[in-house]
Amino acid sequence: MELSVNSTVKLNNGVRMPIFGCGVFRVRQGEESRATVRTAIENGYRMIDTARVYCNERSVGQGIADSGLKREELFVTTKLWKEDWNDPRKGLLDSLERLNLSYVDLFLLHWPFKGFIQAYKVLEQLQEEGLCRAIGVSNFKIHHLKELLDSGIKVIPQVNQMEIHPLNTEMALTQFCYEKGITMEAYSPLGGEGRLILDDPRLIGMCEYYQKKPSQIILRWDLQRGVVPIPKSVHAQRILENSQLFDFVLSQGDIETINDMNRDERRNYEPDLIDQRPSWLEPQLVDEV
Ligand SMILES: NC(=O)c1ccc[n+]([C@@H]2O[C@H](COP(=O)([O-])OP(=O)(O)OC[C@H]3O[C@@H](n4cnc5c(N)ncnc54)[C@H](OP(=O)(O)O)[C@@H]3O)[C@@H](O)[C@H]2O)c1
Repeated sequence: MELSVNSTVKLNNGVRMPIFGCGVFRVRQGEESRATVRTAIENGYRMIDTARVYCNERSVGQGIADSGLKREELFVTTKLWKEDWNDPRKGLLDSLERLNLSYVDLFLLHWPFKGFIQAYKVLEQLQEEGLCRAIGVSNFKIHHLKELLDSGIKVIPQVNQMEIHPLNTEMALTQFCYEKGITMEAYSPLGGEGRLILDDPRLIGMCEYYQKKPSQIILRWDLQRGVVPIPKSVHAQRILENSQLFDFVLSQGDIETINDMNRDERRNYEPDLIDQRPSWLEPQLVDEV
């Protein structure tokens, strides 16, 4: 079926999730986050991806309220941070209070911190209570997922959000998730802040033919792989550009060229080392005014 700006993917519990969204990592709390969310929604985005640790949930909630959309027209994701690992219920209720929402559409374990199985089992309860419509994980490699799936959980995660871009294609993980019915989301789809991969000659070579920007080529590659990208930008022109993905189709040859760019090059933290991250590298939680 042809993809459009309104297309959704059906998660393994029947909930429908938009096939692209707007990320707000490193978007400053206050007017910047509020305006980014409002602009994204005005440009047709229906999914917003935030997290406790981004420290902008309150401002994101204001942007959502500004949009005037009905709650059910939007898909809002947030994530549990390690401060709340032992009490995910409190973590979610606090996020909901900041977002000014009565439920989120997707609630993720942000990283495979120690004790993720116990935390996930609480997410199952929160989902049953209707506080989140879908649940899942982020930064989970195949071995983390196997450990979780073998631990007696009742709900197969609906989503795994992972760093995915042409230099880190995560082919084996994507295939594993596909077989288990777990939808993959691509974070840092353009390579991430300060580490963009938009000047690769292979991508630039495709731009003239498709009359598209390298960013759009990459995001379209995600969509054609069945992966849901959530690019971040605070600039209205880029927010718009990153959603203009539905008037061209990459050839199989070009998809393979991008697949071949893979170097397993992760720009974010290595998930297996997350519990050993030194405190000076840990993000600081700053309350919003
Ligand atoms: N689960 C996790 O652990 C995790 C980790 C990282 C990110 N995420 C999520 O994924 C989202 C996206 O990842 P990300 O923010 O790391 O990286 P990204 O979306 O790959 O890249 C963001 C950077 O690209 C720039 N940019 C955006 N669109 C552009 C365009 N069309 N042309 C040129 N530059 C462009 C942005 O600059 P401007 O803003 O100045 O336009 C920003 O510097 C995050 O916002 C967050 O929601 C999740």
